[in-house]
Amino acid sequence: MPENLPLTMYNLPLIFLQLNLGWVLLVASFAAAQFMPGCLDYCGNISIPYPFGTSKECYVEEHFLVTCNDTHYDPPKLFLTTSDIEIIDIHLSGQLRISSEVAYDCFNEGGVLEDYSDERTRLAKFPVSNTRNKFTAVGCDSYAVISGSQGQKYDMGCLSLCDNINNVINGSCSGIGCCQMSIPKGVRSFNISVRSYDNHTLVWNFNPCSYAFVAEEASYNFSSLDLANLQNRTMFPVVLDWSVGDQTCAEAKNNLSSFACKANSDCHDFDNGPGYRCNCSQGYEGNPYLPNGCIDINECIISSPCNMTCQNLPGTYNCSCPEGYEGDGRKNGSGCGLVPVPNHGLPVINIALGISTSISGLLLGGSWLYLGI
Ligand SMILES: *[C@@H]1O[C@H](CO)[C@@H](O)[C@H](O)[C@H]1NC(C)=O
Ligand SMILES: *[C@@H]1O[C@H](CO)[C@@H](O)[C@H](O)[C@H]1NC(C)=O
Ligand SMILES: *[C@@H]1O[C@H](CO)[C@@H](O)[C@H](O)[C@H]1NC(C)=O
Ligand SMILES: *[C@@H]1O[C@H](CO)[C@@H](O)[C@H](O)[C@H]1NC(C)=O
Ligand SMILES: *[C@@H]1O[C@H](CO)[C@@H](O)[C@H](O)[C@H]1NC(C)=O
Ligand SMILES: *[C@@H]1O[C@H](CO)[C@@H](O)[C@H](O)[C@H]1NC(C)=O
Ligand SMILES: *[C@@H]1O[C@H](CO)[C@@H](O)[C@H](O)[C@H]1NC(C)=O
Ligand SMILES: *[C@@H]1O[C@H](CO)[C@@H](O)[C@H](O)[C@H]1NC(C)=O
Ligand SMILES: *[C@@H]1O[C@H](CO)[C@@H](O)[C@H](O)[C@H]1NC(C)=O
Ligand SMILES: *[C@@H]1O[C@H](CO)[C@@H](O)[C@H](O)[C@H]1NC(C)=O
Ligand SMILES: *[C@@H]1O[C@H](CO)[C@@H](O)[C@H](O)[C@H]1NC(C)=O
Ligand SMILES: *[C@@H]1O[C@H](CO)[C@@H](O)[C@H](O)[C@H]1NC(C)=O
Repeated sequence: MPENLPLTMYNLPLIFLQLNLGWVLLVASFAAAQFMPGCLDYCGNISIPYPFGTSKECYVEEHFLVTCNDTHYDPPKLFLTTSDIEIIDIHLSGQLRISSEVAYDCFNEGGVLEDYSDERTRLAKFPVSNTRNKFTAVGCDSYAVISGSQGQKYDMGCLSLCDNINNVINGSCSGIGCCQMSIPKGVRSFNISVRSYDNHTLVWNFNPCSYAFVAEEASYNFSSLDLANLQNRTMFPVVLDWSVGDQTCAEAKNNLSSFACKANSDCHDFDNGPGYRCNCSQGYEGNPYLPNGCIDINECIISSPCNMTCQNLPGTYNCSCPEGYEGDGRKNGSGCGLVPVPNHGLPVINIALGISTSISGLLLGGSWLYLGI
């Protein structure tokens, strides 16, 4: 479920069904499960879940400091630490999105450089996600280079050439008008620059500029319209991976007072650098980094998995069938079926039969006992 909103599809029915339990309390407890009391929860509409925070008592360590600037921006903007790197959203699953600028290189009709910009980003702790982002260059006379030395040291580039706008294929970024590369693991800085071979003189009528950027893969889909002016886009979202501490789960668990994963949560080693992440255990939801942050999911109300009787239990639920029915009680299992009645007889006869059998059993047992004595 989306971790960032206190009211969601999931807990709305819960609230309405349990009005008699005091829905105000319920909403309050869910909100408390997301945020640290006494801390700024939102910057504009961007949620700031713990371990992130805007002041010392509110974040777990320096790297999780975020700065909300509501004096100069409307709506307010959130920044990573005290940098000028703008945060778009923060997810408790261990990702956050920042906004990153496009590097470009533009020429006039005579092949004279009109304007250019290289892009530099330096991140303190959280690396660029190697699975969620791509390095992309757009242009028909373009080569782009990305390099970095913070964290992983790397240099790579891609090349895109074409001579006719009709040759490019919408949605395909494979070297004609657009080229793309993966980002290695552990990248915490990048410098991007983009240049051309012939100053766009041969393609200027449809492509006066080259562009290059790192972007969340899903946020960009190449179109021939981008060759004119990138459809005026100057910023793209970039997904960063975040983790807590610099130890593995096994090491961190040795010191429970500093271990970030609280009750009813699981620890996962980080796969893009040092540290670990926490996750509410199955059957719980909320914020695993806060004490009592993972709260039980009431499966009976949220997914109604049982065919007849449902009992919510901590972390799980129990389906059962009332008397006279048999089965596992689960909708996706055998459900609840009427207990078949043998011989098509009436239940009264069955009961009578049952009683008489047990009486005769008793008599038989009694006589054996008697014989034994
Ligand atoms: C915040 O609001 C803007 C526009 O109102 C929207 O584009 C953006 O997706 C919202 N962000 C979140 C995290 O809801
Ligand atoms: C908000 O941003 C402006 C412009 O970047 C800056 O001058 C100001 O100091 C910032 N305010 C806060 C509270 O960070
Ligand atoms: C391209 O532009 C640069 C800078 O404006 C200039 O130095 C160079 O001679 C030009 N090259 C060509 C092939 O036009
Ligand atoms: C990135 O650019 C900065 C500023 O120009 C420079 O100091 C740094 O060495 C560059 N890093 C790499 C890996 O090129
Ligand atoms: C990208 O664009 C192409 C053509 O416009 C379209 O067929 C494709 O579904 C799009 N892909 C995504 C992921 O949006
Ligand atoms: C790509 O898609 C845009 C609109 O989505 C369209 O105007 C353009 O002609 C298409 N280009 C090609 C080469 O198909
Ligand atoms: C891009 O900006 C130019 C000039 O500001 C404007 O004429 C054009 O319509 C814009 N294009 C898009 C796709 O927004
Ligand atoms: C456990 O963590 C606490 C809080 O960070 C720290 O003060 C203490 O020294 C640690 N203990 C050990 C044995 O590392
Ligand atoms: C965290 O838990 C959710 C739901 O149980 C699961 O979908 C997700 O894959 C888990 N994340 C990790 C890193 O294990
Ligand atoms: C589930 O419910 C059944 C019937 O009410 C009961 O016999 C069983 O002990 C319950 N299981 C648990 C784990 O509570
Ligand atoms: C029924 O669904 C539950 C949870 O979605 C799953 O764990 C279980 O394996 C499913 N059982 C069957 C028989 O499909
Ligand atoms: C579940 O109960 C409904 C009636 O409430 C019945 O129609 C359905 O067949 C049952 N499904 C199973 C799997 O027992």
